[in-house]
Amino acid sequence: MGHIRIRTEVPGPQSQALMRRRDAAVPRGVTHSTPVFAASADGVCVTDVDGNVYLDFAGGIGVMNVGHSAPSVVAALRDQANRFSHVCFSVLPYESYVSLAERLARLSPGNFPKKTLFVNSGAEAIENAVKIARHATGRPGVLCFEDGFHGRTLLALSLTSKVEPYKLGYAPFVADVLRVPYAYCYRCAYRADYPACRFTCVDEIEHHFKRHADPRTIAAVVVEPILGEGGFVVPPSGYLARLATLCRGYGILLIVDEVQTGFGRTGRLFACESEGVEPDLLVIAKSLAAGLPLAAVIGRAELMDGPVKGGLGGPYGGNPLACAAAHAVLDLFEPGDLLRRSEAIGFAGAKPSGRRSKRTLDDGRRPVR
Ligand SMILES: Cc1ncc(COP(=O)(O)O)c(C=O)c1O
Repeated sequence: MGHIRIRTEVPGPQSQALMRRRDAAVPRGVTHSTPVFAASADGVCVTDVDGNVYLDFAGGIGVMNVGHSAPSVVAALRDQANRFSHVCFSVLPYESYVSLAERLARLSPGNFPKKTLFVNSGAEAIENAVKIARHATGRPGVLCFEDGFHGRTLLALSLTSKVEPYKLGYAPFVADVLRVPYAYCYRCAYRADYPACRFTCVDEIEHHFKRHADPRTIAAVVVEPILGEGGFVVPPSGYLARLATLCRGYGILLIVDEVQTGFGRTGRLFACESEGVEPDLLVIAKSLAAGLPLAAVIGRAELMDGPVKGGLGGPYGGNPLACAAAHAVLDLFEPGDLLRRSEAIGFAGAKPSGRRSKRTLDDGRRPVR
């Protein structure tokens, strides 16, 4: 690991010059949380173009859970690039796609036959999960949650809850999307009190089914096990399981979006493991491939096999470089050290302090683990 070092004003002169070029060449909609330009990165440190070294708390928005430039990931990428970088799995298949699918089916929750589809981004994986669910059920509707985030493409954006900046000016959105409040106890939409309420927010979904949409028209519930963009809201333990039961009762498929919570964020490989929930379709991305664009839908084999030949896929999904990186990432996670470390750090940092965390962590509920 490098050492933090600030040697110029921030942003430094090189970053300022690049930012002027960036302003002229790149749309303002692509924003930045920091005004400095990256030159290199290693472990938890990033060096900017002026030679300043920072601790990286963002990790490319939860993408670098194994750290920057992990040597085994870099070696796997070099090796794969020397052999071939692209042939398109739909044209000429290769082993690493298949073995990654096998590996993720083994590592993901659910003791039933599973199959895995690889695509390029979390949003694309969400879109495909909904397509697969609609195909399997013959139903159009999708139920999602207030404060949820599922991406920026049109269907994913229709499921995303935040107006500014994500949805502002992009209407109309996809029809047949039903949105209900999440188990956000600190700002409970129903002013209920957990645990006495015993999940009013789930019971209320049944009322939505009476007032707004026939449950027989709903293909899937799409849910984050912990809200990410919506403010890192940890629902009470048992919430996800209640949703799963509700889904089962109406023949609705449960799509769990672990794009952000996956790969050690909660001390487990996937957050829904701690809730004992087995999603019908699990959506993953971000830290799956340490920065290479790779996302996946892992699902019950019979659902995944619904779409006809050619109904899923694309040139880049499961690109050989991304698959090589993902195998190297799983090699780092599978021994368990990273997960144990994540759990230890998470619990050390989860001491109640201040109003918000007292309500979210000290009222009988526990953070997911
Ligand atoms: C929970 C969740 N779902 C979906 C997405 C969309 O993923 P992507 O930006 O790779 O399309 C994100 C991205 O931040 C996310 O956090």
